[in-house]
Amino acid sequence: MPKKTIADVPLSGKKVLVRVDFNVPLDSAQQITDDRRIRMALPTIEKILAGGGRAILMSHLGRPKGEGVEPNLSLRPAAERLGELLGQPVAFAADTAGDDAREKVASGSNVVVLENLRFQVGEKKGDAAFADGLAGLADIYCNDAFGTCHRTDASMVAVPAAMEGKPRVVGFLVAREIEYLDDVIARPQHPFIAILGGAKVSDKIGVIKNLLGICDHVVIGGAMAYTFALAQGGQVGDSLVEPDKVDLAQDLLKQGGEKLVLPFDTHCGDAFAPDCNKQVVPAGKIPEGFMGLDIGPRTASHYADLVTHAKTIVWNGPMGVFEMPPFDAGTRAVAESIAASDAVSIIGGGDSAAAIEQFGFADQVSHVSTGGGASLAMLEGKNFAAVELLDRVD
Ligand code: 3PG
Ligand code: MG
Repeated sequence: MPKKTIADVPLSGKKVLVRVDFNVPLDSAQQITDDRRIRMALPTIEKILAGGGRAILMSHLGRPKGEGVEPNLSLRPAAERLGELLGQPVAFAADTAGDDAREKVASGSNVVVLENLRFQVGEKKGDAAFADGLAGLADIYCNDAFGTCHRTDASMVAVPAAMEGKPRVVGFLVAREIEYLDDVIARPQHPFIAILGGAKVSDKIGVIKNLLGICDHVVIGGAMAYTFALAQGGQVGDSLVEPDKVDLAQDLLKQGGEKLVLPFDTHCGDAFAPDCNKQVVPAGKIPEGFMGLDIGPRTASHYADLVTHAKTIVWNGPMGVFEMPPFDAGTRAVAESIAASDAVSIIGGGDSAAAIEQFGFADQVSHVSTGGGASLAMLEGKNFAAVELLDRVD
């Protein structure tokens, strides 16, 4: 599915409408606590500027109601951070696609950031009039919002549809995400191992099913393992489980056979606290009054061993409560073994991306995705309408 990128189109004198994902975490004082998504969009923006074009950036932030401005979800702090990172002025349009946006674009600023798309009801509805307003601002459409590629919001689908006949391309971030999450997975080097963690089996069903078809091992950790333990008739004490997903876990166990690797031992505690009473027990033998909080040490070293022998590794979801030592040990062991490996390693967004950053290994893996839901959807093998409709390389 090779798509044209921003490097494939003439940019001189052109206005480029770029859908970015500046959905960054903010603290209560509206300070950005992690600007990775903004930094990852810089190569595309810098390419546009270096080519003599102008960039009009649009994004959502959070999940506002779609009934107008909610000041705590304004994109103004993201626009300010972008200005600092680029080292040049960034104009901010307070109304998304209205008079202020048209004025800021007409004023000749090289970079304009529009206010949160989701303040307008048309964004989530995929509304044509709203899309036309945005489409009319530019000569070229560029999708560099990987974290939102699984969405069909107006800025992702209706806007590029309304710009048919003009160049519609991917940015460098989306191109790179597709290269890893789609292309590498389509033609993996074996052994190919997927390590899946996190709280819920229900979030990962599609991913487990799809990866069981292409991986040599699908390795399970996190609270999701306790639902599998329940499905095998084990005892899970007070662990976080999904009793209504036990049937499904049984189906996955049947489908997976020996490919599906479950923990042997569990590090549990009698409270969700670092100073709780702790013990390591065999998986499926968690006593009443205790809850599983991490994979046990034997499991951690087996998983690290599987990683060491793999040529392609996908990791999505922590093995335990990695924010709360000592229950970070399982996640840390997996992260360390991935960092030490020469395999192609892809870290799904969300918690595993946060974990690999926290442990300081982010630059020792092949790719850390900027998408949470989007990277899962891609690992499920789904196609994205937002990418499908963009121009292909001839
Ligand atoms: C994300 O953070 O997952 C993306 O920015 C998409 O946000 P959404 O889940 O609110 O659509
Ligand atoms: Mg999300």
